Amino acid sequence: MRRPFIAANWKMHKTISETREFLSGFVPEVKDLSDVDIVIAPPFTSLAAVAEDVKGTDIMVAAQNMFYEEKGAYTGEISPLMLVDIGCRYVIIGHSERRQHFLETDDIVNKKINAAQKAGLGVIMCVGESLGEREAGGTFDVLLREIAKGLDGVSPLDLVVAYEPIWAIGTGRTATPEQAQEVHAYLRERLRVLYGNKADELCIIYGGSVTPDNVDSLMACKDVDGALVGGASLKAESFRRIVKFRKEQ
Ligand code: PGA
Repeated sequence: MRRPFIAANWKMHKTISETREFLSGFVPEVKDLSDVDIVIAPPFTSLAAVAEDVKGTDIMVAAQNMFYEEKGAYTGEISPLMLVDIGCRYVIIGHSERRQHFLETDDIVNKKINAAQKAGLGVIMCVGESLGEREAGGTFDVLLREIAKGLDGVSPLDLVVAYEPIWAIGTGRTATPEQAQEVHAYLRERLRVLYGNKADELCIIYGGSVTPDNVDSLMACKDVDGALVGGASLKAESFRRIVKFRKEQ
C-alpha cells in the first residue's frame, strides 16, 4: 500500500508573516492525521519559519528548487546541503515553470536530482507535456524522455514523481481522472523498467489545478497516489480539505 503524499507548492507567494498566518490555521487541524504524508514547499525565505512551526509534527518541509553544486561561486544559488541544514526533507526538481522560465534542461534536472539524493533529500520530480505536445499525440514521448534522462543514475529511495500536464497548471483546467490514470499507469510502467517491483512502492502524484472539489475523484484513481497543489494550497482551509480528501468523500 502506498501512503498518500500531498504537497503544497506555494511558488513565489507569501511573506514570512503570511506563512505564519497560514500555519496557525493549518497545522493544528492536520497534525494528528496519520494516514497521509503532508509536505509544504514555501519560497526559500519562508523555509525557516515553516521548519520551526511544524516541529513536533509529521508535516515535512520542501524547497521548490536548488542548485546541484555543494558550494562555490554561484551568486544567488542555494545548495542541497543548505536545504538539509534549514530542515528540508524534500526538494521539488524540474517543475515546468523552471524548465520554461529558467531554461532547465533534462540534463540539469538530472544533475539536480542526483545532487539532492547525495545530500539525503527526497525528490519530487515533475514531468508533463504542453498542450501542443498533447494535441500532437506526443504526451508519452515527452514523458519517456523526461523520465529516461531525468532519472539516469537516480535511486528510487524517497523519490516521488509528479505528473503535471503544463496545460492544467494554474489554468483551472484539470486533467480528468481518466487522463490522469492513463498517464500515471504509463509512468509506473516506465518506473518498472528502471526500478523493477520497487515501482509499485513509488508515489506518482498529480498536479495541475487540484482543488477541494476535484481531489476526491483524482485520488480515487488506482495510480494517483497524491497531489502537488499550487493555487489551492495558498489558503489554509482549502489545503486542509485537500489533505483530508478521504474523509470528505
Ligand atoms: P496549480 O499548480 O495547482 O496552481 O495548477 C500546480 C503546480 O504547478 O505545482
